[in-house]
Amino acid sequence: MVTGGAGFIGSHVVETALQAGWDVAVLDDLSSGSESNVPPAARLYKVDVRDAAGVLKAMTEFRPTVISHQAAQASVSVSVRDPMLDASVNIIGGLNVLNAARDCGVERVVFASTGGAIYGEVPDGEQATETSVPRPYSPYATSKLAFETYLQTYQQQYGLAYSILRYANVYGPRQNPHGEAGVVAIFATRLVQGQEITINARQETGDDGCIRDYVFVTDVARANLMAAQGKTPAVLNIGTGVPVTTRVLAEQLAEALRVTPQLRFAPPRAGDLERSVIDPTSYEAAIGRLTTLESGLAQTAEWATTAGS
Ligand SMILES: NC(=O)c1ccc[n+]([C@@H]2O[C@H](COP(=O)([O-])OP(=O)(O)OC[C@H]3O[C@@H](n4cnc5c(N)ncnc54)[C@H](O)[C@@H]3O)[C@@H](O)[C@H]2O)c1
Repeated sequence: MVTGGAGFIGSHVVETALQAGWDVAVLDDLSSGSESNVPPAARLYKVDVRDAAGVLKAMTEFRPTVISHQAAQASVSVSVRDPMLDASVNIIGGLNVLNAARDCGVERVVFASTGGAIYGEVPDGEQATETSVPRPYSPYATSKLAFETYLQTYQQQYGLAYSILRYANVYGPRQNPHGEAGVVAIFATRLVQGQEITINARQETGDDGCIRDYVFVTDVARANLMAAQGKTPAVLNIGTGVPVTTRVLAEQLAEALRVTPQLRFAPPRAGDLERSVIDPTSYEAAIGRLTTLESGLAQTAEWATTAGS
């Protein structure tokens, strides 16, 4: 059962699991996801994770062996504006999922955590490893870290196994361009429409922007399937370790889309980390090679010019 399976990443997890021959159900309130993202072969339970009885009912009916928990309040800036909302979905909603999983005899919960936000600023030249000390800087990062701790507690108290996946900045087909996050989807949509795109500064207006680690969504889906089978370490970074500025990203994406970008330069955006890059060593050891940015952007560009946007 994939919570948040109607969303961007969750729908790729669903697709990959169906391709592997698994029976899949989606639990999603469709708040940011869409029913059209859910393949007909997957059963959809339209339930808010904050509705404990609804979550238990869906799980009692479907009887999953594994949960991939993707449903979340997934925006850093929303969490800064409304920490209570963030906690209600990401902590209380998450606990409803854990309680139902425990009561229904689920074997393992895979959790979509954040490698992009949990480590705080990562100094130039460094990559955060799974053992780096978490430095949550936003309520979103704090709620994700809190839930990671709950997973450890539920394993100790109730024997519910878990796998934590700490995603870097995920991009790819089906990413929603209408929020404040998801720079690849936002840029792709604007570039296709011939609109200018904004490079928010890392420090001073006109610089190349913040540094991020962009990981392609199918690599994330693959990790979820491996984790669901207990074939990944308890905590695993899902990132490439490649530092990319917003400007380089914009230029490479424009190249993939075969358009000339019109760039606008703006001051730093409040609350943005300057640099976030995570170590891919464990991913490569447990799962294999990661998609290059060039290949991932080419696939995203193809989607953006055909099915997407
Ligand atoms: N996109 C990234 O770069 C990134 C990075 C790190 C972690 N993550 C995490 O990955 C997960 C998936 O993110 P995404 O980018 O696919 O976002 P998304 O918004 O596309 O997907 C989230 C899904 O959860 C559903 N959802 C939200 N609130 C819900 C609720 N109360 N009850 C039931 N369903 C609810 C939404 O309808 C949506 O389908 C999230 O947990 C997010 O925090 C994403």
